[in-house]
Amino acid sequence: MHIEHFFDEDTSTLTYVVHDGRTAVVIDPVRDYDPKSGHTSWASSEEVAAYLDRQRLALPYVIDTHAHADHLTALPFFKTRYGARTVTGARVGEVQRAFRDIYHLGPDFPVDGRQFDVLVDEGQRLGFGSLEVEALHTPGHTPAHMSWRIGDAVFVGDTLFMPDYGSARCDFPGGSAAILYDSIQRLYALPDDTRLFMCHDYQPGGRPLAFETTVREQKRGNVQISARTTKAEYVALREKRDAGLAAPTLILPSLQVNIRAGELPEPESNGVSYLKIPVDLLGRK
Ligand SMILES: [Fe+2]
Repeated sequence: MHIEHFFDEDTSTLTYVVHDGRTAVVIDPVRDYDPKSGHTSWASSEEVAAYLDRQRLALPYVIDTHAHADHLTALPFFKTRYGARTVTGARVGEVQRAFRDIYHLGPDFPVDGRQFDVLVDEGQRLGFGSLEVEALHTPGHTPAHMSWRIGDAVFVGDTLFMPDYGSARCDFPGGSAAILYDSIQRLYALPDDTRLFMCHDYQPGGRPLAFETTVREQKRGNVQISARTTKAEYVALREKRDAGLAAPTLILPSLQVNIRAGELPEPESNGVSYLKIPVDLLGRK
């Protein structure tokens, strides 16, 4: 099994290609978006595509761990270019329902996940080449969030970050620090040598990029949640941290695209797609 990483500096996101030399999956690809001009591009995904092409890899699946709030997903790029089927967690409808209301998309907006080709539930597996990806439902950051296990590696999305940074925020619709604690305990119950691959690295203190660790290292030294951290301690810390966090820069552009499996809203009669910004709504209880 080969794992290749790609780092998007604008959003500190890691995209992975996992393959057996012939057949691959792509996990958490990024579509570039400039909030100042409203321009999108596939530049980040073209780098991933160049690798797939160099290695002559087939791509049956392109996978999101969850509906990202900090970048637009590039699922459609890989669907169009490689015929990959788009995959996410089976409970994505809960996220779609919450954001349908926030964006006032109306009753016709589907909230059953049909925008994705494959919805995967806890324990389900997808084969690709000689490898297999297994879905681990790890909610907390979002209710539908999945971690994806391939061999001895788990792509943990926004559950854990590197041990020196901590864990994902839990203050988005459907998020819960108590539930994320339980999900992280699930990851910590995996064998100590299990390799964990992060979806983000914010390079605290300006340290070099790091994105791979192990269950053992996380349990030993994660600054927010080690093996010794109780649920009460974690929930108190997480909720206090989250109360002071600003919204991610791209949350409003991202979610309305990501709940459409990465498609932009239908173009209007002039052929232009428009994104919607709710005013004075987000975060209102
Ligand atoms: Fe996220």
